[in-house]
Amino acid sequence: MTDKTVTEIMLNRKSIRRYKSDMPSDEVIQAVVRAGQQAPFASQLYSVLMSRKKRQPFGAPLLFTICVDVHKMALIMERRNWKMVTNDLMLLLFGIQDATLMAENMVIAAESYGMGSCFLGAAPYMADKLAKRYQLPERVFPLVQLVMGYPAENPPPRPRYPLEFTLFEDTYPELSDEMIERAMQQMDEGYLAQDYYRKGKYMISLMGDRQETFTFDTYSWTEHISRKWGQWYTKIEDLLTQFSRRGFNLSPEDPKSLQDP
Ligand SMILES: Cc1cc2nc3c(=O)[nH]c(=O)nc-3n(C[C@H](O)[C@H](O)[C@H](O)COP(=O)(O)O)c2cc1C
Repeated sequence: MTDKTVTEIMLNRKSIRRYKSDMPSDEVIQAVVRAGQQAPFASQLYSVLMSRKKRQPFGAPLLFTICVDVHKMALIMERRNWKMVTNDLMLLLFGIQDATLMAENMVIAAESYGMGSCFLGAAPYMADKLAKRYQLPERVFPLVQLVMGYPAENPPPRPRYPLEFTLFEDTYPELSDEMIERAMQQMDEGYLAQDYYRKGKYMISLMGDRQETFTFDTYSWTEHISRKWGQWYTKIEDLLTQFSRRGFNLSPEDPKSLQDP
């Protein structure tokens, strides 16, 4: 185990996208998941599915699928003679917070054992496929996946916004042009200095009639993230379908969500 402080571990953490094939011991895996469980919770609305088959993304030995799980809670309530009437949006908000805090605790615990990790965000869009693969009961929704193992790379920590663009005391400030520019510059220069997108060969293609003017000498985080949220995931229906296939109803017409408090 490392002798770094928790804050040192957090400030040095980065997503790892290349792994050694060594399989962490059961003892280490269980310690990491136990640390995950000890995160604060609203209701422990999560379950974690683990695979240690070969050939996971990035060559990682471990793949966790972190799920929002309302099913287990309903089973407990049934035994107490209660029926769940809370609307599914509320349950999902709490479930997402519970599962996310749990997952991040696992990330930090893994670091303390010399391991690295990387989240994979596509799970909600393939919830039905993952449900089949892991035989998930209804009301268990795959939120995010997490690969983990011993790193075969050691990149520097990635940049973040300046604190002045994140921490606001007492009132939310008027964001000046200078503050926005400084935040963009810190992110873009930071990623360019690491040659991050060239090394990862990530450049999101332009859709529609915009002409490409960027190269890996200029393409950086603010352009990358703008291309994501400026082009992808436009339809809400795809995601709503995944939720409804998993037994979550997010329609305001759902009788459950119309009940008075
Ligand atoms: C919810 C979520 C989804 C993510 N999905 C992916 C993914 O699909 N592929 C990937 O390579 N990284 C993914 N990441 C990792 C982010 O790209 C990474 O955390 C971010 O670029 C900041 O870099 P850092 O973790 O190295 O500091 C995801 C992270 C989060 C929190």
